[in-house]
Amino acid sequence: MTTTALITGASTGIGAEFARRLAEDGLDLVLVARSENKLEELAASIRRATRSTVTVLVRDLGRPDAAEELVAECATRGLEIDFLLNNAGFGTHGLVAEADPAKLAAEIQLNCVALTELSTRFLPAMISRGRGTIVNVASNGAFQPLPQMAVYGATKAYVLSFTEALWQETRRTGVRVLALCPGPTDTAFFDIAGEDFASSKRTTAQLVTTTKRALAKGRPSVVDGASNALVARLGTRLLPKRVILWGAEKTVSAR
Ligand SMILES: NC(=O)c1ccc[n+]([C@@H]2O[C@H](COP(=O)([O-])OP(=O)(O)OC[C@H]3O[C@@H](n4cnc5c(N)ncnc54)[C@H](OP(=O)(O)O)[C@@H]3O)[C@@H](O)[C@H]2O)c1
Repeated sequence: MTTTALITGASTGIGAEFARRLAEDGLDLVLVARSENKLEELAASIRRATRSTVTVLVRDLGRPDAAEELVAECATRGLEIDFLLNNAGFGTHGLVAEADPAKLAAEIQLNCVALTELSTRFLPAMISRGRGTIVNVASNGAFQPLPQMAVYGATKAYVLSFTEALWQETRRTGVRVLALCPGPTDTAFFDIAGEDFASSKRTTAQLVTTTKRALAKGRPSVVDGASNALVARLGTRLLPKRVILWGAEKTVSAR
């Protein structure tokens, strides 16, 4: 039986790497993002390299009705989604007092609302088939507030909380759920956020390997990279809140 994976934000970065790796594993793909050319180029190279069937669906998931339309389009095309990777997302950098409120609302819409709606709409069919996988991309920024990336950090805290709760709810259904928390990873993310503060970055290939291991172990969440995991899981519990906030602001401000 062929498994079909739907990947949001598949045109570049983490999503594109997952597309290549899941196709190598024999999965069929549905690639979703706004950039048609990039999606078609990626689809063509995957078709050349593997036997996967690749469907491209150009969608702006920032539109409020986009998730519902996407699920309906999959049903119309007879695409049964067994693996959902909610990866599309972006970050904004800067002080809230100086931010464009519409941009922040768009960030919440994409990072939280679309992700929640796609999880909710695809989950019942996975449960009734007794199998499926949902991977929601959070961040190591989900573990503490992020001054100067306040809305981004809050959206990722939401993704982590929502996904871990969903993991518990689906434990006995045959559906695997994972919150994936990348640390700084070598993609266009920082160009779009407008600030490259990361002193070192992991590769998208390392991130996919981490994800596969965490899924195999049935974990509710995983932080990519040992030092990222240590800071995210331990540092944020041991240190006083003022120190955490100071450290987090310094991290996202430093060049
Ligand atoms: N890179 C990091 O250091 C890092 C760290 C932690 C978490 N993350 C998370 O990882 C995920 C992937 O980011 P990335 O690092 O791979 O960055 P990226 O290269 O900028 O990829 C973002 C993807 O999201 C898509 N996207 C953006 N807005 C969209 C919209 N309105 N509708 C549909 N698709 C949209 C983009 O495609 P189009 O522009 O073609 O639509 C692109 O494919 C994000 O959720 C990000 O928050 C990244």
